[in-house]
Amino acid sequence: MTTDRRLLIATGNPGKVAEFRTLLDGCGWDVVAPADIGLPRVEVIETSRSYLENAVSKAVRHAEASGLTSLADDSGLEVDALDGRPGVISARYGGPQAATASARNARLLGELDGVPPGRRGARFRAVLALAIPNGETYVREATVQGRIAAAPRGAEGFGYDPIFELPDGRTMAELGEDKHALSHRGLAAREIIEVLRELR
Ligand code: IMP
Repeated sequence: MTTDRRLLIATGNPGKVAEFRTLLDGCGWDVVAPADIGLPRVEVIETSRSYLENAVSKAVRHAEASGLTSLADDSGLEVDALDGRPGVISARYGGPQAATASARNARLLGELDGVPPGRRGARFRAVLALAIPNGETYVREATVQGRIAAAPRGAEGFGYDPIFELPDGRTMAELGEDKHALSHRGLAAREIIEVLRELR
């Protein structure tokens, strides 16, 4: 088994890298991003309709390319009134016409136009996959329940955070540091930390 204690975060999304650095603080591993180790972009085409397959393939490809233990996340927003969309295609929802997070948020709010608060239920889901260079993988999953706000609020976080409202009325983009304690990624990360501790 490798004695290298670097943990590669298998994503090019700076929002996710920043969250993982905080979430994994104190886990006993040295968290690095692809750019920190000069890793050329690892092409992983997310063809699967499953978060699990996407997360595992991202983690395994990065572990193979870098020789480091690698952690990948596949996540998304599931809106009940839209039969679970955008789901696994959250990052690309709306195609090229909705190329930014605020454009995707506007599109989603438009689709829910006229839908009353009681029918705007939604959840964030995160599946985390850890791949170690010997080929073993570990997977943990978590969700957080909420609803889609009437309009975007808050300036923190990334992606759909400004339109995802928690039961206490704050959007994810209004939580600041509290996001890590409450979010889907935070909950799944706490379980992955247990695995990381056992692997050390
Ligand atoms: P992927 O996991 O790289 O396929 O991207 C998941 C997409 O889901 C992100 O690009 C965001 O649009 C959305 N998403 C996942 N987690 C969050 C979150 O914590 N806040 C806001 N949006 C999120």
